[in-house]
Amino acid sequence: MEVLIRPDADDAARTVAGIVHQALAEGVRTLGLATGSAPVGVYRELARRHRHEGLGFAGVDAFLLDEYVGLPPAHPQSLAEVIRRELAEHVDLDPARLHLPSGTAPDLFAEARRFERCLTEAGPLGLQILGIGVNGHIGFNEPGSSLASRTRLKTLTDDTRRDNARFFGSIDDVPRHVITQGLATIGEASHLVLIATGPHKARAVAAAVEGPLTATCPASVLQLHPHATVVVDELAASRL
Ligand code: GLP
Repeated sequence: MEVLIRPDADDAARTVAGIVHQALAEGVRTLGLATGSAPVGVYRELARRHRHEGLGFAGVDAFLLDEYVGLPPAHPQSLAEVIRRELAEHVDLDPARLHLPSGTAPDLFAEARRFERCLTEAGPLGLQILGIGVNGHIGFNEPGSSLASRTRLKTLTDDTRRDNARFFGSIDDVPRHVITQGLATIGEASHLVLIATGPHKARAVAAAVEGPLTATCPASVLQLHPHATVVVDELAASRL
């Protein structure tokens, strides 16, 4: 695992955007996307590079990690809408090539299987961007998730719902269930790039990078991956 420590969050976002830019320039055509506050900085920088440096997303297929159950796709906090607002609307990514799990499908179990199949058919993603939860989750794989898990329904922990209440106004409005790619699904991407910034992520980053490989810290699964890059600012690196 490669760990890159940058002075601040903007620098960390620029570093990850640079890794994505290089991958696309080298011909990567499948990209995994995450939501969360740190990846948003990466998307702003990718949009800037699209405007000013000719970075193009034509012909790229992008796949989102997860979605809340019960939020219609146009809900401002649905992860589909977040990724459209933060990235897709600002670059030349073909909307038909933005692949999303639906949180409002009539049969959510079948929807999870459909999305997993969609990923399998695309082949290993060239690059997967990841954030990390304060509790060490990646995607919405909460602590205790099987390291062998595939795309499925999960129940959010109260901690995660409390954390994400800032986007919803009240914890009561945060959905209890999600569809998320599994840890094994995520691990199939050729290159995993995790970004974490801020002091509140320091404990999770230390557990993921230097702790034991354990379902208690789902992000520790990166230790098994042949090509994982962790990009952190100094605050998130403070316990390394
Ligand atoms: C969210 C997402 C994760 C993300 C994490 C961190 O709930 N499902 O993919 O990595 O939580 O988000 P933030 O950076 O906003 O704390």
